[in-house]
Amino acid sequence: MSEGQDVAQKINERYRELSPASATAFAAAAGSLPGGDTRTMITYDPYPLYFNRGEGARVQDLDGRWYHDLVANYGALTHGHNHPELIRAVNDQMQRGTALGGPSPLQYQHADLLCARVPALERLRYCNSGTEATMWALRAARAFTGRDVIVKIDGGYHGTHDWGHVSAFIHGGKTLRQPLLDLPPANLAPGVPESVLMSVVTVPFNDANAVADVLARLPGRVAGLIVEPVLGVGGGIPARPGYLAELRQLTAQEGVVLIFDECATFRLGPWQVKHNIEPDLSTFSKIVGGGLPIGVFGGNAEIMAMFDPARPEPLYHASAFGGNSLSLAAGIAALETFGGAEISHLDALGDTLRKGLDAAARKAGVVGRAVGEGGLSYFHFGAVQPQNASDTAAARRGRDQLRALVHLHLLNEGFLTARHGLMCQHIVTDMSVVEEFVEVFASTLRLLRPYIGQYHPDLLEDVPLPAPGAVR
Ligand SMILES: Cc1ncc(COP(=O)(O)O)c(C=O)c1O
Repeated sequence: MSEGQDVAQKINERYRELSPASATAFAAAAGSLPGGDTRTMITYDPYPLYFNRGEGARVQDLDGRWYHDLVANYGALTHGHNHPELIRAVNDQMQRGTALGGPSPLQYQHADLLCARVPALERLRYCNSGTEATMWALRAARAFTGRDVIVKIDGGYHGTHDWGHVSAFIHGGKTLRQPLLDLPPANLAPGVPESVLMSVVTVPFNDANAVADVLARLPGRVAGLIVEPVLGVGGGIPARPGYLAELRQLTAQEGVVLIFDECATFRLGPWQVKHNIEPDLSTFSKIVGGGLPIGVFGGNAEIMAMFDPARPEPLYHASAFGGNSLSLAAGIAALETFGGAEISHLDALGDTLRKGLDAAARKAGVVGRAVGEGGLSYFHFGAVQPQNASDTAAARRGRDQLRALVHLHLLNEGFLTARHGLMCQHIVTDMSVVEEFVEVFASTLRLLRPYIGQYHPDLLEDVPLPAPGAVR
């Protein structure tokens, strides 16, 4: 066996040695859950760790091992796992009921907090997930403009509804010609009808000219443009300076509803507040529910007025648990304890992390770099700093096994990250954890050098010898 294969085998063996209870749980789960889990995006080989509990910024697996949580439920959490204010809010509300079959003051209390923080959010409505929120924002854009076509970003992830699962950077499905315009082919997830492509057009991220071109070639037909300010699943790529301002201008000129999907980027401020660019509609989820399911869509009061049931033909929006009291109580506590200081802390953690990962790669002599913004970070192998999903796909191509080994070894060392590369922290994460993590990341890459040399020689650099007396 080569040295590279030996390293890979040892990492896998160690993972299995450390997590026998998760292996047993995985086998048991396969009896009722296809693939032993319920979230395709977050499961991984040989089996995912099964968790028991969380405390602060750590989680414990079924074998009793603790992990520093550097993924924060894939960006959905910010407060750690047992924040006292959130526990109190949820316990109090639980005593009084979760959904009482009528509106409660919690709805406008939560809404007021959000609207005060996000100026473009004049009116809003609640649902239970980011998927629902983006689905409703698209519906609202269509209903308001009377047009059908949605422009979405190649690799943009907006949840799992049919309109969102076009070129959403997931594996499988069909790659088809875009029938509306002569554009590069789009990917449809299995089960998404081809007819969706009659009303969804995809363009590359960070390319405002591509949007201008679509709007010019489909005059009067585009209802909305939906975009994540940081392309999340598509590689953690921040919008280049000026990009979203250009989209703001182009959409305003053509009467197209501009939708910022800020389900992941609320932790940045949200992005639109930090960068002072106002979309027509926004979607939020995840952390605005304080650890419980929530979705929010809203924005311009005139557009949102379509949902007013007192209107002759209101936009019919229903959701049995939309605006439920438990999520709102937790969400209020979360918003009240997530202000400028907490956001700055997340930003500082993210900045330190990205600088540290870049330094770690240099130190280990492995070509790769960190990308992201504020408290959202990714690591990509290769020299290219991705600007869009095609770049991310190129950076990942043929490197799944390498990324898997990095992920498993980090777990072996007690650090939870996402297999696809996402790293997010909690407001209760200490800077020392990030510093420790980048050291472990550097040693992980060093350990993997024989493997990388064998399978990805293009990623190896000569490591300069340390200066005499220097500590490395
Ligand atoms: C930007 C973005 N939009 C939408 C969603 C979908 O949210 P949910 O998983 O709550 O449906 C996600 C979830 O990862 C997301 O990151």
